[in-house]
Amino acid sequence: MDSNENQPGPASQPRQHNQLHPLTSKLKPFLFYTTPILTLFLAISFTFTKTHYYKNQHLKKSHQRNPMSKPPSYCVRWMAPFLSGGGYSSESWSYILSLKENMKNPRFRLAIDQHGDLESLEFWEGLPQDVKNLAFDLYNTECQISETIVVCHSEPGAWYPPLFQTLPCPPTGYGKFLSVIGRTMFETDSVNLEHVKRCNRMDYVWVPTDFHVSTFVKSGVDASKVVKIVQPIDVNFFDPLKYEPLDIASKGNLVLGAKKSNSDSERQFVFLSVFKWEYRKGWDVLFKAYLQEFSKVDGVALYLLTNPYHSDRDFGNKIVEFVDSEFKNPVDGWAPIYVIDTHIAQIDLPRLYKAADAFLLPSRGEGWGRPLVEAMAMSLPVIATNWSGPTEYLTEENSYPLPVDRMSEVMEGPFRGHFWAEPSVNELRLLMRRVMCNVEEAKSKGRKAREDMIRRFSPEIVANIVTNNLHHILDKIV
Ligand SMILES: *[C@@H]1O[C@H](CO)[C@@H](O)[C@H](O)[C@H]1NC(C)=O
Repeated sequence: MDSNENQPGPASQPRQHNQLHPLTSKLKPFLFYTTPILTLFLAISFTFTKTHYYKNQHLKKSHQRNPMSKPPSYCVRWMAPFLSGGGYSSESWSYILSLKENMKNPRFRLAIDQHGDLESLEFWEGLPQDVKNLAFDLYNTECQISETIVVCHSEPGAWYPPLFQTLPCPPTGYGKFLSVIGRTMFETDSVNLEHVKRCNRMDYVWVPTDFHVSTFVKSGVDASKVVKIVQPIDVNFFDPLKYEPLDIASKGNLVLGAKKSNSDSERQFVFLSVFKWEYRKGWDVLFKAYLQEFSKVDGVALYLLTNPYHSDRDFGNKIVEFVDSEFKNPVDGWAPIYVIDTHIAQIDLPRLYKAADAFLLPSRGEGWGRPLVEAMAMSLPVIATNWSGPTEYLTEENSYPLPVDRMSEVMEGPFRGHFWAEPSVNELRLLMRRVMCNVEEAKSKGRKAREDMIRRFSPEIVANIVTNNLHHILDKIV
């Protein structure tokens, strides 16, 4: 379930609030608790046509329980866009699956609720049956409000009272639950006043990185409430030894340059990037660096796995338009760019990474950067902007941290007026050339990357961090 930001729906904004899902709008009059359960039942009664992949092995242990021991009466109710797809959705599932598999003698039962974004039937349909079963189980866990810790895992606009239509979190407002935790993150240098206010109503605010601890506190969130809880990455699923490379040449549409001809004996060096098509992701920086540094004779190829974000699907034309406005045709011919905009099933994601020689993400700001940690778990050398969330795990030893030229103001969208980073085009050129020319160095960084992912973010490690924090909260209040 370590799907990532190649799904539509950004971490920081819920989608399409003006287009209410028919299920959600029908259910509007229903009150707390009935809503998500009913919605789920309705959702499950639809026929499932799509096949996606989710990890089944994760759930095998979930039903083991010592028949002699009484289940604890305390509950942790995790409320998140479990049925929505997108950043927060995959992130929240990664916590739940890690916890389910790795919790040892927890002093609480786990429960979940859909909250914070619209349900996507397509996403629900794509879940494997045992994850659906787990979802049902966890939805139906009954908890006493007075014995429940609530985790609101969403953007703060969804927290009680919500600024848009969603099951509020905490569902009945503050002060009735044992404890309420807000779990959120942003991709810019600061937190809006309204969001700060909402954070400060929580007992704790969980953020994934030191970068967020610092931006939240600097923006006015009570420092005593802010706790860093890193994100898990499924290092067993994203394991390079388990996969053969995907045949990406057959998946990608060539949008610039020429295909490798059969007479070219040398193999191409493949750069891969995975992102939603939005300005924040720095695709302009990526194309500038790549096309200035390389031409056809370099034997490289750039593959993009992307999908739309408030934009139509016509990436090929967008890229050609951008290139026409910035560059003259090179004498040697363009270095090729391929776009993969068809759905890549979760089961094929590791094979996609495996087909690449290096991974690039010169974005202006990231919350966590799921494709980056996936690539790193797959032992790929990564080049990524040395700012915001990824500074939590990028080091000189495990990657190529991309230097920033300057900070720039966000010009549109909900974070207008905030600042984020402008990654250096020239430094990106140098690093791309370096990763291509220094094979041994790149390999050693890739190996170190996987080691670091296992050591710091594997499901066991993060489940422990989360459980210890929750136990600590219980210790303090009961
Ligand atoms: C990355 O940023 C950190 C500060 O956040 C800095 O200490 C480090 O030197 C930077 N690395 C590179 C390669 O720019």
